[in-house]
Amino acid sequence: MSALFTPFKLKDVELRNRIAVPPMCQYSAVDGLTNAWHQTHYGSIARGGAGLVIVEATAVSPEGRITPGCTGLWNDAQAEGMARIAASIKAAGSVPGIQIAHAGRKASANRPWEGDDHLAAGDPRGWDTLSPSALAFGANLPKVPKAMTLDDIARVKADFVAAARRARDAGFEWLELHFAHGYLAQSFFSIHANQRDDQYGGDLAGRSRFLLETLDAVREVWPENLPLTARFGVIEYDGRDDETLAESIELTQAFRRGGLDMLSVSVGFSTPAARIPWGPAFLAPIAQRVRREAGLPVSSAWGIDSPAICERTVADGQLDLVMVGRAHLADPHWPYHAALNLKAQRPSWVLPAPYAHWLERYAVAQ
Ligand SMILES: Cc1cc2nc3c(=O)[nH]c(=O)nc-3n(C[C@H](O)[C@H](O)[C@H](O)COP(=O)(O)O)c2cc1C
Repeated sequence: MSALFTPFKLKDVELRNRIAVPPMCQYSAVDGLTNAWHQTHYGSIARGGAGLVIVEATAVSPEGRITPGCTGLWNDAQAEGMARIAASIKAAGSVPGIQIAHAGRKASANRPWEGDDHLAAGDPRGWDTLSPSALAFGANLPKVPKAMTLDDIARVKADFVAAARRARDAGFEWLELHFAHGYLAQSFFSIHANQRDDQYGGDLAGRSRFLLETLDAVREVWPENLPLTARFGVIEYDGRDDETLAESIELTQAFRRGGLDMLSVSVGFSTPAARIPWGPAFLAPIAQRVRREAGLPVSSAWGIDSPAICERTVADGQLDLVMVGRAHLADPHWPYHAALNLKAQRPSWVLPAPYAHWLERYAVAQ
């Protein structure tokens, strides 16, 4: 019996297997609105068999977008488009999830294939960025953000709550707060970005405050019976890893007490000076430590994308869910092919009936 193809239950939601598609920006929205591209992309990926499909980093406000092509949930027209996407993911047998995000000092950027850097000063498509402190990321993202006032902080938290409410009403059943990758929430936690001397900076409690308060506020509006999760960079690979990891585990314990149901373990990406040890499943042992010490189910991504590695990380208890990203862009039917590879299942156990029926007929005919 394959561990990867075992169902997974969290709160009232059951995934048909342990394969999740992590959020992946499509950079194809206009004014934060989804279109036919998103509809096709998410529907086909869901039909491919993953248990969970998490829609891309969706901004809680216009200035929270990474690029002008990022999706948003700051108005009702955006929510209508998202409702159609959630419905098509669900119709294909996957659980519809969405990541809500604020890009902080990494916002106002070009698309990756257009330079992956900040939009030039004076570009009419650009906007002023926000961060805990007026410190630029550096390297390809040199723009100096505005240090957030207490009013800014209160407004962004309210934006997260409004976006969570819209995600709920649009039919999403799994919410992921983007607390990772050097964007706004991660920047509050990171000493590379946060040099505040008020209650939102300084020691671990201060640098955790924005994240915990945002979780708390969203918890109020997100249904109690549906998973509320976060993606968080637990490590930076900046030479201070023991200290950062210890703090991250302490914060994850606080997330659990604050009502978080699962953590997607990732990298901080808060400094261009990081030296990341890329390699197959390099984060899995760290995710397992977080799982053990923080007492929360975990998922993770980054090179966890061969059927054998996925099977092992789940079977060995390193991860509860595997996030298979780029491999799904190349092959939306990755789970079906993984099932064949692992000799795990018949098509009808992975794919919805209208599709699996003919594949089974084909398999029998061969
Ligand atoms: C095109 C693209 C867009 C991405 N957008 C997001 C995003 O919106 N939110 C996020 O947390 N990570 C994002 N990521 C990171 C992925 O979720 C994932 O962690 C990464 O691709 C590594 O997993 P993989 O090795 O399976 O591809 C993106 C990655 C790619 C390739």
